[in-house]
Amino acid sequence: MSPFDVAYVRSQFPALKRMVDGRPAAYLDGPGGTQTPQRVIDAVADYLAHRNCNIHGAFVTSEETDAVVQAAHEAAADLLGCSWEEVSYGANMTTLAFLLSDAVSRDIEAGDEVLITQLDHEANRGPWLRLAERGAVVREVPVDLETCTLDWGAFERLIRPGKTRLVAVGYASNAVGTVNDVARAAALAREAGALSVVDAVHYALHGPIDVKAIGCDFLLCSAYKFFGPHVGIMYARRETTAVLEPVRLATQEPDPPCVWETGTLNHEGMAGTTAAIDFIADLGERHLGMVQDRLPAGLQGRRRAVVAGMLAGEAYEQPLAKQLRDQLAGIAGVTLYGPPEDTPRTSTVSFTLDGFQAGEVCRSLGSRGLFTWDGDFYARRLVDLLGLTPRGGLVRVGLAPYTTQGELERLVEAVADLARAVR
Ligand SMILES: Cc1ncc(COP(=O)(O)O)c(C=O)c1O
Repeated sequence: MSPFDVAYVRSQFPALKRMVDGRPAAYLDGPGGTQTPQRVIDAVADYLAHRNCNIHGAFVTSEETDAVVQAAHEAAADLLGCSWEEVSYGANMTTLAFLLSDAVSRDIEAGDEVLITQLDHEANRGPWLRLAERGAVVREVPVDLETCTLDWGAFERLIRPGKTRLVAVGYASNAVGTVNDVARAAALAREAGALSVVDAVHYALHGPIDVKAIGCDFLLCSAYKFFGPHVGIMYARRETTAVLEPVRLATQEPDPPCVWETGTLNHEGMAGTTAAIDFIADLGERHLGMVQDRLPAGLQGRRRAVVAGMLAGEAYEQPLAKQLRDQLAGIAGVTLYGPPEDTPRTSTVSFTLDGFQAGEVCRSLGSRGLFTWDGDFYARRLVDLLGLTPRGGLVRVGLAPYTTQGELERLVEAVADLARAVR
């Protein structure tokens, strides 16, 4: 039996009590956004009920709001492994990436090169494709379609020292779960004198992040993918921010993190984000024994607990995901997409079923209380290249620390029923 206390985890999420036509809802839609634990809901409500205000005023609710904003920066710094000044909040990852591309574009000259990948979500492609308007040449790292992994040989060939100005790569594919060696990508970028941008939106639920170990200039994620509210978070290396000129009002503070934070922030969302990170830390404290031997040395306090929480969740989910892949593979007509076994991957499982559009499969699963996503999930380039657009893309099953083996058994049974229906 797994030492992971899934019953405790589930008890924290009110949404898990929901029924669909007499069956418990199974939230296998995590890569599109996870559910939130009660403490996140309480933190958002508490802020709106008791502290709702703007910042930097000379009265108590404003002072408390300053504290909420500061706490959210410190919590995200513990999540990412950096200083709080290197964390900026925004509407979502996509908006922050456009803000970043605007800042970078000021230094782009005709003929400069930018590297993106075929594996990435459009939010880590579109903002960089726009640099072509400034005369940049945008190149794509190809994906090996058999293995759904990046072609690293091509990656190395396509980075050109002195020419490549920016490299944008995903930490993990939200469509097929492939985890990329982002430290290698950042090192290649650095050697070539290019900036590196890591999209960690999908990865952030699935493993600890250490931006200093990665060595990237920027890393972006979204709190709603790891139990929090709908806000975006960006790590911006202090030294890199210093040489950029983000768009801002004359009245806006010119120093990080404020220089990236245009307008009034989502204070209640930030209060909820702190609570989400504290929830992950709580999971870590509860499961320290399970991950002790894998904890990097030298970590302390909440940072240590957050890393432990991430490792514990993944240690719980990975065997479940493997079992799910094995069982789905045994169903006639199912084709799985993703990297080979023993290749780094998240616990996200994607497949097609012969005879059905992806949307038809998800609608049928949805009617049985099994929530899964269909389509390209904005990883459109990959899904197009896989030739799956005419079939409605992929069916995506996302595991989270609140997922149970029983839910996955229900899913396998439902897919097997559908498969039998067309034979
Ligand atoms: C890998 C990945 N990158 C970027 C995004 C966009 O994030 P946001 O919704 O915060 O803009 C998503 C959202 O699904 C994603 O999965």
